[in-house]
Amino acid sequence: MTSIHDLPTPALLLDLDVLERNLHRMSERAAGFGVAMRPHIKTHKSPEVAGLQKALGITGVTVSTLYEARVFADHGYDDATWAFPVILTRLDEVRELAERMTLRLVADSPEAVEALEGLGLPLHVWLKVDCGYHRAGVDPESPLAVELARRLAGSATLIFDGLLTHSGHAYDARSREAAAAVAEQERSVMVGFAGRLREAGIEVPGVSIGSTPAMSTVERLDGVTEVRPGNYCFHDFSQVAIGSCAVRDCAVTVLSSVVSCRPGDSRSVVDAGALALSKDPGPGATMGEVFADYEAGALDAEARLVSLSQEHGILSAPRPVGSRVRILPNHSCLTAAQFDEYAVVRGEEVVDRWKIWRGR
Ligand SMILES: Cc1ncc(COP(=O)(O)O)c(C=O)c1O
Repeated sequence: MTSIHDLPTPALLLDLDVLERNLHRMSERAAGFGVAMRPHIKTHKSPEVAGLQKALGITGVTVSTLYEARVFADHGYDDATWAFPVILTRLDEVRELAERMTLRLVADSPEAVEALEGLGLPLHVWLKVDCGYHRAGVDPESPLAVELARRLAGSATLIFDGLLTHSGHAYDARSREAAAAVAEQERSVMVGFAGRLREAGIEVPGVSIGSTPAMSTVERLDGVTEVRPGNYCFHDFSQVAIGSCAVRDCAVTVLSSVVSCRPGDSRSVVDAGALALSKDPGPGATMGEVFADYEAGALDAEARLVSLSQEHGILSAPRPVGSRVRILPNHSCLTAAQFDEYAVVRGEEVVDRWKIWRGR
């Protein structure tokens, strides 16, 4: 048996008990609302984690890259939404993947719709709608939104899946109430737009929404058909700050060791820098919290990561060289994307290793 105390660092630990609990909770929430689950696998990039999600009932997966779609097709997944505005320089790969699986694409521009129609294939397409995040997606109040929906629904080749959005602005919330308000805004914007399209005679098969803060706090989902949370499987310090979860619900931590502590210094250096944790500032206070007691879910009041360079992490307290710290990342999706594998743990025992399939 390997103990986490024997692992070389930096190592990415995945707590299987916490992961399983998170997956069950979200799948029960989705079932309670009567919506289909299509989890975003960009968080974990792991067919093993997806296998646990599949066992709880999912209709397919959501991916952020064509590489992820290809990997999951190789692992037997036959239905994936590429929830990213379709990249027009990658249409050859789209064509190839669409022969292997039901690949659902996302578009929010006349250029993208035209290019997809130009392929002459029965491709599934969601119209991406901006529900308030203002990153991508058509303005649901705009004539362009109605025009694109009409064009997709009436296409001779394309199959219109419906309206899709992502409530990324829920990450600005600092309370459950604020996140729930964004969730309700997301729902009402989407369901309202779908209703207006239907009144105009345009058939809207589905309404797909996303985000872990919204799904963790939302109170009703009438009119929604599918949800695509990703981060909920791991959570992280950003979710704790929002109120989506408690510290003990965070499944991914970085095990790191102290490599330098100069005499008299009030700081020390650990082997977890930006290429272990990413530079996501999260809620803004630190670059990573450190556990005082992992089992109790207690964070250290003194030691925190205050700055990161490529491989160095600066800890705000002196610690002996060779001692270890367990770090709670600000953003588990970006942290996992820095590593090649998870050391899967139950308690302090390493029970498995799961590859992280990274690629574009
Ligand atoms: C388009 C889209 N859908 C769903 C998600 C999942 O959101 P979360 O990780 O907050 O659950 C994301 C995350 O960035 C996304 O970009």
